[in-house]
Amino acid sequence: MNIVRTVAEMRAGVARARRQGGTVGLVPTMGAFHEGHLSLMRAARESNDLVVVSLFVNPTQFGPSEDLASYPRDEARDAAIAEQQGVDILFAPDAAEVYPDGFSTGIHVKGITEVLDGASRGAFHFDGVATVVTKLFGIVTPDDAYFGQKDAQQVLVVRRVVRDLNLAVRIRACPIVREPDGLAMSSRNVYLDADARRQAAALNRALDAAASVHEAGERDAATIVAAAARVLSHAGIRPDYLELRSAEDLSPLERVDRDALLAVAARVGAARLIDNHVLTITAEEGES
Ligand code: PAF
Repeated sequence: MNIVRTVAEMRAGVARARRQGGTVGLVPTMGAFHEGHLSLMRAARESNDLVVVSLFVNPTQFGPSEDLASYPRDEARDAAIAEQQGVDILFAPDAAEVYPDGFSTGIHVKGITEVLDGASRGAFHFDGVATVVTKLFGIVTPDDAYFGQKDAQQVLVVRRVVRDLNLAVRIRACPIVREPDGLAMSSRNVYLDADARRQAAALNRALDAAASVHEAGERDAATIVAAAARVLSHAGIRPDYLELRSAEDLSPLERVDRDALLAVAARVGAARLIDNHVLTITAEEGES
């Protein structure tokens, strides 16, 4: 595995693969790898000749009161893990390589960025994500790019950028990888002490409770959300948001008459965690 730091080296690596007719898969990450990242690397490895993993803790997607400084960083560990997964190139630029002096372009996606994490964290967050991901697509020119469904809103934002800007990349969303007690894997789980770690498992239990109510036939959004809210409240968690929205465009739903995203964000101990379930409707419901 090669570790490359510059855009020029990255482009040269991709050009070599392209000359041999190879396809390129990109897994954009901020490092601190866990099983969720590994599932993306494996998916990329299965379908592409050249697998590139980017490792860049992108400052522009963090707010001033967020955890940019404390975000877990261990490049040597991450590089060893990526190598074990058969990654070909780890692209680990520094901030000046990504945002050189005079950098003044940003990508802003309207609408779907104004709710859930966009409302809770601020508009800067998805502007930062959309801009850095668009840059990575420009640098790596991947055929496929792999993202985790845990960041469901991020996946929708990236898909929208790709569609609106006619970028020639397929977005592959991979399932959420969970701990045995259901906690979604996240680099931020390292912030949890033992009590908070136990409490955090309630996020997925809450989503499960709502999914059970939905599976039993309930279609009223408020009733479904209330089932999740009860579990959170019982666990002493006050969510930043707990909302049921269209899985396609994040518009609000009063009734679950199409695929719906039940999304939650909450501060648990020292971590701000997010999680979600997609509630799917049956083929017959879709037709009616
Ligand atoms: O999901 C992440 O780790 C980041 O938001 C991403 C996509 C690598 C952009 O910095």
